[in-house]
Amino acid sequence: MSNAFKKIILQSTLLAAAVLLPAVHAQSTGKIKVGLMLPYTGTFASLGNAIENGFRLYVNEQGGKLAGREIEYVKVDDESDPSKATDNVNKLIKRDAVDVLVGSVHSGVAMAMAKVAKETGTLLIVPNAGADAVTGPMCAQNIFRSSFSNWQPGYAMGEVMAKKGHKNVVTITWKYAAGDESVRGFKEAFEKSGGKVVKELSLPFPNVEFQALLTEIATTKPDAVYTFFAGGGAVKFVKDYAAAGLKKSIPLYGAGFLTDGTLEAQGADAEGLFTTLHYADSLSVAKDKTFRLSYAKAFKLQPDVYAVQGYDAAQMLSVGLNAVKGDLNNKAEFAAALGKAKIDSPRGAFTISKSHNPVQDIYLRQVVGKENKLVGVASKSLTDPGRGCRM
Ligand code: PHB
Repeated sequence: MSNAFKKIILQSTLLAAAVLLPAVHAQSTGKIKVGLMLPYTGTFASLGNAIENGFRLYVNEQGGKLAGREIEYVKVDDESDPSKATDNVNKLIKRDAVDVLVGSVHSGVAMAMAKVAKETGTLLIVPNAGADAVTGPMCAQNIFRSSFSNWQPGYAMGEVMAKKGHKNVVTITWKYAAGDESVRGFKEAFEKSGGKVVKELSLPFPNVEFQALLTEIATTKPDAVYTFFAGGGAVKFVKDYAAAGLKKSIPLYGAGFLTDGTLEAQGADAEGLFTTLHYADSLSVAKDKTFRLSYAKAFKLQPDVYAVQGYDAAQMLSVGLNAVKGDLNNKAEFAAALGKAKIDSPRGAFTISKSHNPVQDIYLRQVVGKENKLVGVASKSLTDPGRGCRM
């Protein structure tokens, strides 16, 4: 090869590198666009707001940057409507070119998000929706959850209610993934311990016409009732259960969403209810004390489990980003860092399972006044089985 030719090759290689370098550099230094796909209207609106508040609180505590990159937000109201979810998530990825997806609350919406995230390789952090499939058959290197699986609080309550000596239980919930899976988790533990689910009642999401079902509970006369409802629907269910005169005769239990972020509206009708969840209002966790003070100061509101999950979604993003020095293309390193991490959550520190779901204590709580008071740990370091996950 002639010297002149070598020189041309060298020059063009340098030129190509010069053209390519800024692009590679920009990917790990510019702003990070976070797509918040959450419900801002409907029965889960307050849940979406709490998640966003929690997420922003953590980012603001870091000076608005994670791994040195400024955080920018793009928001979509998903209306807890699975039929709009695929379009919504595609808009965030294609039109808005988000780097990270954070969402959602509703299990059906989250499953649509997980499908697109898996197909496109976009990083997804689920800050609430418990759909077992997200960290089961749909699990992926780029999909994480900062909240719980629907199975977790249900399973813990199955053990609690069996220990309390209840034998025959009726379940009541919305007919969709979250309700079905919460009841399935409950039933698995409850029947293993000798109990029997005698009737499974349901109504379509997000209906709140409970009257006919409450009449059926009254005529069935079970020892107790297990339920999954959340948000506005949970407020109405607890009030209707008391108004129907059932609260005195048939004890009501639930996954803790029944009474989290809802106590102001439920008032005395929620007093005394036992629920299971990965958070409570009176934990002796140092991180929780500072979190609650900062949250109340920033938003003039008391935090709830949703705020904690939003805060922890941002913490998880931060852990991953720091490990890859801001380069989100490095998915294997990102996942490896979270696999080794201990997340310093207000709920108490947790680790992340092989299928990317929190391994966490599930607490038994009881409503006292306006608080979900800690009774004890119902299930220590409960790990979702991650059935069907092949990573
Ligand atoms: C869900 O759809 O997975 C879901 C919704 C609201 C909750 C918990 C789970 O509070």
